[in-house]
Amino acid sequence: MSDIENLERDLIAKVDAADDEAAVEAVRVAALGKKGAVSERMKTLGKMSPEERKEMGPALNGLKTRVAAAIEAKKAALEEIALEARLASEKVDVTLPIKPVSNGKIHPVSQVFEEMIAIFSAMGFDVAEGPDIEDDFHNFTALNFPADHPAREMHDTFFFEPKEDDSRMLLRTHTSPVQIRTMMTQKPPIRIIIPGRTFRCDSDQTHTPMFHQVEGLVIDKQTHMGHLKGTLEAFAKAFFEVDNVKTRFRPHFFPFTEPSAEMDIGYERVGNEIRMGEGEKWMEILGCGMVHANVLKHCGLDPDEYQGFAFGMGVDRLAMLKYGIPDLRDFFAADARWLEHYGFDPLDQPNLATGLSR
Ligand code: PHE
Repeated sequence: MSDIENLERDLIAKVDAADDEAAVEAVRVAALGKKGAVSERMKTLGKMSPEERKEMGPALNGLKTRVAAAIEAKKAALEEIALEARLASEKVDVTLPIKPVSNGKIHPVSQVFEEMIAIFSAMGFDVAEGPDIEDDFHNFTALNFPADHPAREMHDTFFFEPKEDDSRMLLRTHTSPVQIRTMMTQKPPIRIIIPGRTFRCDSDQTHTPMFHQVEGLVIDKQTHMGHLKGTLEAFAKAFFEVDNVKTRFRPHFFPFTEPSAEMDIGYERVGNEIRMGEGEKWMEILGCGMVHANVLKHCGLDPDEYQGFAFGMGVDRLAMLKYGIPDLRDFFAADARWLEHYGFDPLDQPNLATGLSR
């Protein structure tokens, strides 16, 4: 076997054996580099006799071409393998479940707002909102509060400094002023819930100066007390996620509804746990009633044509009940450990299809 054939076999074997780009490059330098084995032999062509050169020239050129081609082919193959490995390692399986977010929790009040919105939207209610800072007209007068009603007094309501005309703005004491704002701007039929912040000068284990309410308002031509009861019973079942929830309506008084009632739900306390729908105890969870004719009139609606119902409930209270949270003041203490314990996963969006709470 000729020297050239030996060299070719040797070089091709080295190319085959090279298993990364650096090894291939080393073979290339050793063969085709300035001082490589093939290059050194090419240099000898000049010193050969014309006959010798005629034979060796094509042989050496052929060797050079084949070795170079083998090196190129090997480089391309290695690049292909590297690309495939990278694609495999960077593959994302979009069908895998999302990793739970480990830090950051949704506050129980926000969660319960979302649960209520999910329940009432499914019943066809829209969400309406209004300002936290209200005037006397929307918070009291239009809601049929008499001029000397105790709720207007300093000890309940947070008033701002009087304006030049002696009127005072206030922090709304309930979400009911948004009933007025809605009835004054929208033509019935109206079916809304109003989630929002409310303020009263009060603080103990079950009262904080700022708290949250969800108000409901339905105005149409034939809406009656039966609709009110049905709506609130359906809400209680969906919210507490028990089918046999017991409800009771007791007569009550609100200036803006007539007749008015409070709704209680039946429960039983077993140790520290509160069980809804069982036992003999009753707990008040909301106020409600048929919208008072004077309120309709204040909003430019004819009480002989329109009627409807309203209700208002304390969101914080319902969150405490549903999730067994003992002290209301902790809701607003901004304690990260409390939130870690009672908070909700941001990806747990309440909806009726998969269940409200996990
Ligand atoms: N606004 C009342 C409150 O804050 C609740 C309520 C709303 C009662 C609507 C009846 C109708 O106590």
